[in-house]
Amino acid sequence: MHTAIDLKVFYFGTPVVLITTRNPDGSTNIGPMSSAWWLGTTCMLGMNDSSRTARNMLRERECVLNLPSAEQAAPVNRIALVTGEPEVPEHKIARGYTHEPDKFGAAGLTEQESEIVGAARILECPVQIECAVVDAGPFFRPGITAFQADTRRVHVDEDLVIPGTDYVDPLKWDPLIMKFCEYFGEGQPVHSSELARGWRMPHHMGEPEHLRAPAPAG
Ligand SMILES: Cc1cc2nc3c(=O)[nH]c(=O)nc-3n(C[C@H](O)[C@H](O)[C@H](O)COP(=O)(O)O)c2cc1C
Repeated sequence: MHTAIDLKVFYFGTPVVLITTRNPDGSTNIGPMSSAWWLGTTCMLGMNDSSRTARNMLRERECVLNLPSAEQAAPVNRIALVTGEPEVPEHKIARGYTHEPDKFGAAGLTEQESEIVGAARILECPVQIECAVVDAGPFFRPGITAFQADTRRVHVDEDLVIPGTDYVDPLKWDPLIMKFCEYFGEGQPVHSSELARGWRMPHHMGEPEHLRAPAPAG
């Protein structure tokens, strides 16, 4: 039986994307996000205008879409509640955000030079897509922008490629999925989520049970 509810969050499960963009000083910012989907080789990205990522994409008209696997939940979580913007907006302060100019250092991730785009790629991400931002327009409500990012070059960890083809093996690729602000891989929770804490989600998952440290003896 179904029940009609006033659903508060519609994040049913989408891949986490770490968008790298070039800052005005030439350094690279990382923006974790998950409102992303592809049609053919073009990606639709929904970003809050107050993010450094949205501002960088509007100015530079390019970005890299780095796709972490479930193994990278910890570094993603380390930069869940920080922004590259020096002026942290009120709504983010209320959720616990702080300013972090060095996202690579804070996450413990490694910069890898891109071939086309000015921003660096993220070495640890098995899939990296260099893109041109070809369109941007209003979406949902004021303060949100839908970006259209066209693929310019794709880099994939060779262990994930079906030998002799240009296809990723779906049995080998385990994307990090964001579901109701929690991190999942292969249908299972993989890490505690600062985002869920900041958003005050009601499920109180914390650290997944199978990953919790055993209670000290005695
Ligand atoms: C897993 C995850 C998914 C997120 N998804 C989105 C999203 O789809 N759109 C968005 O605007 N912000 C999203 N955020 C919040 C952004 O990461 C946040 O706005 C952050 O400040 C962006 O960094 P920046 O300001 O340095 O660009 C998400 C955060 C996390 C951790």
